[in-house]
Amino acid sequence: MLRRKYARAYLHLLVLVLLPCCGFQRCCEATQSKPVDEARLLLQIKSAWGDPPVLLAWNATASAALCGWPYVRCNRAGRVSGLYLADVNVSGPFPDAIATLSRLRHLDLWNNSIAGVFPTSLYRCRSLKYLDLSWNHFIGELPADIGLGLSESLTTLYLTRNFFVGTIPHSLSRLHNLRFLGLHSNFFVGTIPAELGELTSLQELYLGDNSFAAGELPASFSKLTNLTILDVWSCNLVGDFPTFLVQMPELEILDLANNSLTGSIPPGIWRLNKLQVLILSENNFSGEIPASIARLPSLTDLDLGNNRFNGTLPPELGKHSLDLATVSVDNNDLTGAIPEGLCTGGHLWSFTASSNRLNGSIPAGLANCPSLSELRLDNNQLSGQVP
Ligand SMILES: *[C@@H]1O[C@H](CO)[C@@H](O)[C@H](O)[C@H]1NC(C)=O
Ligand SMILES: *[C@@H]1O[C@H](CO)[C@@H](O)[C@H](O)[C@H]1NC(C)=O
Ligand SMILES: *[C@@H]1O[C@H](CO)[C@@H](O)[C@H](O)[C@H]1NC(C)=O
Ligand SMILES: *[C@@H]1O[C@H](CO)[C@@H](O)[C@H](O)[C@H]1NC(C)=O
Ligand SMILES: *[C@@H]1O[C@H](CO)[C@@H](O)[C@H](O)[C@H]1NC(C)=O
Ligand SMILES: *[C@@H]1O[C@H](CO)[C@@H](O)[C@H](O)[C@H]1NC(C)=O
Ligand SMILES: *[C@@H]1O[C@H](CO)[C@@H](O)[C@H](O)[C@H]1NC(C)=O
Ligand SMILES: *[C@@H]1O[C@H](CO)[C@@H](O)[C@H](O)[C@H]1NC(C)=O
Repeated sequence: MLRRKYARAYLHLLVLVLLPCCGFQRCCEATQSKPVDEARLLLQIKSAWGDPPVLLAWNATASAALCGWPYVRCNRAGRVSGLYLADVNVSGPFPDAIATLSRLRHLDLWNNSIAGVFPTSLYRCRSLKYLDLSWNHFIGELPADIGLGLSESLTTLYLTRNFFVGTIPHSLSRLHNLRFLGLHSNFFVGTIPAELGELTSLQELYLGDNSFAAGELPASFSKLTNLTILDVWSCNLVGDFPTFLVQMPELEILDLANNSLTGSIPPGIWRLNKLQVLILSENNFSGEIPASIARLPSLTDLDLGNNRFNGTLPPELGKHSLDLATVSVDNNDLTGAIPEGLCTGGHLWSFTASSNRLNGSIPAGLANCPSLSELRLDNNQLSGQVP
């Protein structure tokens, strides 16, 4: 407590000392966000959202204890450094008061009903590292200067499931500390900016489910070698399986579903030795499923449904070292037998292969697989009972 008080006094001193040497606007910002005033800012935020019951504990009587208020976190100097307001069902505009919390590092508003255009007031939060505005009612275009305006220290930017339109601003590539970028499920148009390939610190990139013009994944994405998750489902991608993807050694989840990709799976897919989830469904992939897919030691979920794969399901998929949870190959042109041993890993819960030309009988290990809860094999040429 004493330490906190001391730190506050020290901060006031700092503001005073800095006063003569900083620009007018900066000084305003600093005085406005004196610790005592931050309670007032939080009350403004609460009021902008119509004083929702969930924020009852944010009240003037308790303003001395604002660092103990729910959803609020302070730094050691007693300044608000985080607002953790995910999934609290608040609605209304984006309150400008948020951006006046000048030490804010973490702002999580995931899954609320906040409406309006992208709040450029956030450009004032120079310490912002984490920003999640996903699952709200934001509309309009992202400002072209978003990557210049937001704090350079930003590591996380999630804007998914809103109603953003227009193109993805190239300036996002200036946020070179970004490790997590989520833009999926909006109404973005135009092409995926090649500049995003400059974000080499990216670990997770979500672009799926947007209204992009038909095009290929930018070749510059080959530089994103730290990616663990690449989500580009329903992005209107055309062309072949981008072969540079098999040179991303950290990749754990690759989702290319529902595009118009053609050609075959590159045999080099086995290089992705951390790949757990491979989703290629609803494309126009063809050719045979490479047996090397069974050399992916971490593979748990494989979805190749609704393509034009032919040949057999590689028997290697049933080998003991694999620990598959879901395998889906519905609506292809696969022939031959269902591999033995799919269930041996002990975690297979779904195997679906409807509408192919598979023949032979259903392996006993699969029919009696204890972990299995979904088995769909209709519309094949299998003999014996289809469970
Ligand atoms: C004000 O908030 C405190 C906790 O921060 C709570 O104990 C108190 O009941 C609240 N008062 C009102 C009037 O809601
Ligand atoms: C969310 O808040 C609205 C009022 O703003 C209320 O009508 C609704 O029931 C709340 N939903 C949940 C799941 O709490
Ligand atoms: C988002 O919040 C609403 C209520 O506010 C809730 O019904 C819904 O389940 C939440 N969404 C998710 C994905 O949790
Ligand atoms: C990639 O990740 C590693 C380990 O997490 C890290 O040391 C390295 O700096 C990252 N590369 C870039 C370009 O961020
Ligand atoms: C697949 O993409 C098309 C647009 O190319 C879209 O209309 C459709 O809803 C998507 N399907 C799914 C399941 O998302
Ligand atoms: C796949 O190719 C066929 C014939 O070339 C075409 O009619 C169909 O629209 C394509 N489907 C997709 C999802 O691109
Ligand atoms: C699979 O289809 C390709 C054409 O896409 C064809 O060249 C190849 O012979 C077919 N393989 C089998 C086993 O039917
Ligand atoms: C299954 O079909 C293949 C041709 O696709 C054929 O060579 C094989 O004999 C068939 N096996 C059975 C058990 O009918």
